Amino acid sequence: MITILDFGSQYTQLIARRVREANVYCEIHPYNVDPAIIAELAPEGVILSGGPSSVYDDDAPKPAAAALSLDVPYLGICYGMGLLAHDAGGHVARAAQREYGPATLVANNGGSSDALFNGLEGNLGQVWMSRADRLEQLPAGWQAIASSDNSPYAAIRTADGRRYGLQFHPEVVHSQRGRTMLENFLFKVCGAKADWTPASFVDAACERIREQVGSRQVVCGLSGGVDSTVTAALIEKAVPGQLTCVFVDNGLLRLNEAEQVCRELGEPFFGDDFVHVDSTDLFLDALAGVSDPEQKRKIIGRTFIEVFDEAAKSAERTKPHAELLAQGTLYPDVIESVSVKGPSATIKSHHNVGGLPAHMNLELVEPLRELFKDEVRAVGAVLGLPHELLWRHPFPGPGLAVRLLGDIVREDLAMLREADAIFIEEIRRADLYDKIWQAFAVLLPIRTVGVQGDYRTYDRVVALRAITSEDGMTADWFRFPDEVLARSSARIANEVSGVSRVVYDISSKPPATVEWE
Ligand code: XMP
Repeated sequence: MITILDFGSQYTQLIARRVREANVYCEIHPYNVDPAIIAELAPEGVILSGGPSSVYDDDAPKPAAAALSLDVPYLGICYGMGLLAHDAGGHVARAAQREYGPATLVANNGGSSDALFNGLEGNLGQVWMSRADRLEQLPAGWQAIASSDNSPYAAIRTADGRRYGLQFHPEVVHSQRGRTMLENFLFKVCGAKADWTPASFVDAACERIREQVGSRQVVCGLSGGVDSTVTAALIEKAVPGQLTCVFVDNGLLRLNEAEQVCRELGEPFFGDDFVHVDSTDLFLDALAGVSDPEQKRKIIGRTFIEVFDEAAKSAERTKPHAELLAQGTLYPDVIESVSVKGPSATIKSHHNVGGLPAHMNLELVEPLRELFKDEVRAVGAVLGLPHELLWRHPFPGPGLAVRLLGDIVREDLAMLREADAIFIEEIRRADLYDKIWQAFAVLLPIRTVGVQGDYRTYDRVVALRAITSEDGMTADWFRFPDEVLARSSARIANEVSGVSRVVYDISSKPPATVEWE
């Protein structure tokens, strides 16, 4: 495995992804992690990320000396390079001119045969600079293996080839050969093996789950989304018969979704360990007359806990009491909470269904804690989960309640479901589903005038929303070919009775949010 020490770069996660994509396991730790933890992980190499600071600042982030003196290869990127050089007695100073953007990397005499540039045949291509500092003087015993117009020391190393520094960012796509350089560091310099695969993860994860769970029982809330489904499927594989997965139909799911989850996941993957609770009436009654979005979220969260608690209790009629709760926590959430920047005060908090009641007193099992979303999908594929489910757009916990603006009325829910299904069907037909991060319909609480046949109508408006995004934190509206919007609009107005007007939402986030409520 490879350890990545984070100095607060916006690209740290990207470094981790590149390493994982090369099938090498890696973990990100804050730069000031206890060196004993790193030593215990026994990494085959250490990568130091970039960061916003300068090594010569008084308050520059510096790891403990022991973290910089393990007997393994080190690769410092940008700030990380400055740190390695500074540590070895080199001189780093503020550059007269900041350098951002592309630069052409040229190998120095002998540099083209360096292990880091293996397979590139001296053609190092364009690299991406983003720096305000500059190495003015190489430390003794170091040499420059490549340079750019503005950086005589764009790539440096020690004579024994155990320490490398790169002034540019090999992890970003704009560094054309950066991926190869990182892979060379992993395989040629560190001697790592490409044995981190979804299948090897499944074996290791099952082993760990068995160890943690022992003979105890586990409960898991299954929403039909990727994370909870893969979590449940892993637990079921590791400790069959010891899992109860509870699928709560809150009456706010998409068209035929509950049936689909039961048919495609319930019986085939979990058999008797799957419990379907149809609590439509309970949720919709609790939501009656409520139009405030935050109020809706609170009621749904609270009702979910009641239903889940009840379902777990009734499972105890046939199974022993569950002591563990399985959750689909992913690596980005884990990193966020240990990040050098500290847990960020993002707007994410409301996205998780509120905690479970303390009296349930459950120990957590989080088998996906080490994975990025795309790795979760790859693991799901190894477990045989349906492709359509693994690649489904994200769907909010409060479901259609936040897409039916204002009061939740059953007839309106039916209208919204039909409009949404038509939109998604047209997107799939145009083969655009996988290019879009999230797409859905919203039913507005207003009526507008229309004309159908010879009659004037006074009917509802459906808004269509489709976005591209990396993580839901920022988003842009999706540029559809005209015909897809035209067909969706015509079909919705014709097929969904009560709707006479369709609009397309062209707001980005910020300033808008993805959901309308
Ligand atoms: P917003 O609307 O905050 O949405 O821009 C960003 C992403 O989060 C989803 N979302 C939610 N997910 N519970 C959830 O589980 C919620 O209350 C919630 N609100 C928004 C939204 O669908 C988008 O993917």
